[in-house]
Amino acid sequence: MTIKTIYVQPGGGFDRVILGTSDSSPPKAGEIMVRIRASSLNYHDYAVVSGMWAPAVTRVPMSDGAGEVVAVGEGVTEFSMGDHVVSTFFPTWLEGEAKVDDMGTVPGDGIDGFAREQVTMPATSFTRAPKDYSHAEAATLTCAGLTAWRALMVDGELKPGETVLVQGTGGVSIFALQFAKAAGATVIATSSSDEKLDRLKALGADHLINYRKDETWGNSVRQLTSRRGVDHVIEVGGPSTLAQSMVAARIGGHIALIGILSGATATLPLLSALTRQLRLQGLIVGSRQHQLEMIQAIDDTGLRPVIDRHFPLEDIVEAFRYQEANKHFGKICLDI
Ligand SMILES: NC(=O)c1ccc[n+]([C@@H]2O[C@H](COP(=O)([O-])OP(=O)(O)OC[C@H]3O[C@@H](n4cnc5c(N)ncnc54)[C@H](OP(=O)(O)O)[C@@H]3O)[C@@H](O)[C@H]2O)c1
Repeated sequence: MTIKTIYVQPGGGFDRVILGTSDSSPPKAGEIMVRIRASSLNYHDYAVVSGMWAPAVTRVPMSDGAGEVVAVGEGVTEFSMGDHVVSTFFPTWLEGEAKVDDMGTVPGDGIDGFAREQVTMPATSFTRAPKDYSHAEAATLTCAGLTAWRALMVDGELKPGETVLVQGTGGVSIFALQFAKAAGATVIATSSSDEKLDRLKALGADHLINYRKDETWGNSVRQLTSRRGVDHVIEVGGPSTLAQSMVAARIGGHIALIGILSGATATLPLLSALTRQLRLQGLIVGSRQHQLEMIQAIDDTGLRPVIDRHFPLEDIVEAFRYQEANKHFGKICLDI
């Protein structure tokens, strides 16, 4: 069987994205074959495909993949034919502390990803999908969902009644808003768009700030919290937001260093970090065990991802151009 497959040629760039085919391989011991039905776009995938983080070799892009099991190799007991599964961001980081080698195995970057109709991989590269989720909904969890979960629930140990600041209306931040509300937290949300702020309110955000109109929004966050500051910041902006995030955090507050939307190098007000005793915690998605815990919580709470738009696999470049235009609210998905 030939499998419809998207490739990005070395160097990346939208003009180097091609539609081709690949071959199917039957699962060996410990592997499963999955008919991939959906993927979802992340900033990381955009960086690879657009050439910002250019692949050195021809690469199948996309870190996220969801679909159903169509064949099971010898010795696999966790999955059966027909099971709905979702990929993990680090196929070799199963639990505990990550090892250096785990960081180089991200699908769509270090190894071939999920912009294709079928894959055969170790069974441990997948977990079950949440009950009753569509494949597209499941595909939003691998990167954006798990990053938000890890930041708040694993590193942040979020408690009911705490306050969380989320920035912008991309995939990670909207998941963080949803997980925070499900855990009984108060959420302050920012966006560059008043229309998107209205949609954040409808999702349960308690306080709203337009970060374009209010450039010193860190002070506004302090005002909203009776000058105390927030317990957790979902920091996705990077250099253009970090200093304000440090103003917004309470003494001893937790800043989850997640994103670099405005660049990868920042000048930091170190005195503020010291005197306010801040905890700046870098993180990169999470382990398979974290994903299993998140999926159990999703089953328990009934939380559903916010999907802005679907594109067919063949229109992958159009999907990335839509993401680049910053019009989306939540996740953009590929139907495969
Ligand atoms: N460390 C990790 O494990 C990890 C995992 C996933 C993502 N990330 C990173 O997190 C960031 C967000 O990823 P994503 O996939 O959620 O992106 P995304 O879906 O493309 O969302 C981007 C959104 O962020 C907002 N935004 C853009 N520039 C901003 C700025 N300067 N300040 C504040 N908000 C800004 C915009 O919202 P508005 O239109 O509402 O203003 C925009 O729609 C990226 O840098 C990505 O690489 C890191």
